Amino acid sequence: MALDLNPLLSFTFLQMGYHTSPKFSMASTHRSVFREVKNTKKTFSSPHKVQVTHSMPPHEIEIFKSMENWVEENVLIHLKPVEKCWQPQDFLPDPASDGFHERVEELQERAKGIPDDYFVVLVGDMITEEALPTYQTQINITDGIRDETGASPSSWATWTRAWTAEENRHGDLLNKYLYLSGRVDMKQIEKTIQYLIGAGMDAQNENSPYLGYIYTSFQERATFISHSNTARLAKEHGDKSLAQICGIIASDEKRHETAYTKIVEKLFEIDPNGTVLAFADRMRKKITMPGLLMYDGCDDDLFEHFSAVAQRLGVYTAKDYVDILEFFVERWNVEKLTGLSSEGRKAQDYVCGLAQRLRRLEERAQEKAKQAPTIPFSWIFDREVKL
Ligand SMILES: [Fe+2]
Ligand SMILES: [Fe+2]
Repeated sequence: MALDLNPLLSFTFLQMGYHTSPKFSMASTHRSVFREVKNTKKTFSSPHKVQVTHSMPPHEIEIFKSMENWVEENVLIHLKPVEKCWQPQDFLPDPASDGFHERVEELQERAKGIPDDYFVVLVGDMITEEALPTYQTQINITDGIRDETGASPSSWATWTRAWTAEENRHGDLLNKYLYLSGRVDMKQIEKTIQYLIGAGMDAQNENSPYLGYIYTSFQERATFISHSNTARLAKEHGDKSLAQICGIIASDEKRHETAYTKIVEKLFEIDPNGTVLAFADRMRKKITMPGLLMYDGCDDDLFEHFSAVAQRLGVYTAKDYVDILEFFVERWNVEKLTGLSSEGRKAQDYVCGLAQRLRRLEERAQEKAKQAPTIPFSWIFDREVKL
């Protein structure tokens, strides 16, 4: 179903990093390839773009090897022992208990008070969380920090596995909640997850942990904001239990953000020039969201449509993107870096002036996004939602 999205709204998303147009056209092509050529390797590759890979020189890889002890003392402390972690079952009706059916009925009763557009966003968030295999792959293709054996005792690898294990609870909890809510088309959602994991993602991090950890810092803060907002909205719609579900996930994201942000802070300390160059490079490429290639078998612009609803509801917006950028420029003291090369100074100027430039674009696009259409989403049985 070809639907005309307000071109100015797409402009907002293109500019603000929801996706970039070359990637987006790649995504669409990718999906048509998917439909036409089933079960071939071609289906799962990106046919058009030759990306830069392994761009980090050997002496920089050594930096990461030398950080092992520092990671152990400063990053692993942000993990929670499994015994102290919450589990999805803590927030869901217990199927082994006598009152299970009543609890499910109560859950469904509360879910009735929540509008469809909220469910579209919650489903999109859940699907993004469920593509976790892709994110662990992204980290494990990164030079200097990858898990060499799959169970490596290195502190980088220990973090990555435990981070993945913590993250795994997010999609699990949201998936089970949505299943019980009775408000969504689970088969369509499950298909979307399968398509998304099959499509993967190319975050354009060039196998570099400089780019990779800037990306993850940004993403963790973005997901913290997004889950905090779905928590706030659930509360406004009178569903405190759902608010608690989204809130507990947001608190994990915050802890992960702290850890990744600390890694980048340390990189700025060890190698300010290399890190500011990476920061500028990362922002020039834009931080594309991990669910970019989502597809449900019918809507070719599904990610764009989901993002538009998230923007309209204020769950994750173009303004948030700029706020995150501004936050990190300040957090990493980018303006105050000294001793940079001339290229490094250019990168510093670019990054420090970027938020202001994006804000002007964002204000203009906001105004123009108001005439958005209403479209059906398969995730909610083709009921229509305004973009
Ligand atoms: Fe998460
Ligand atoms: Fe996260």
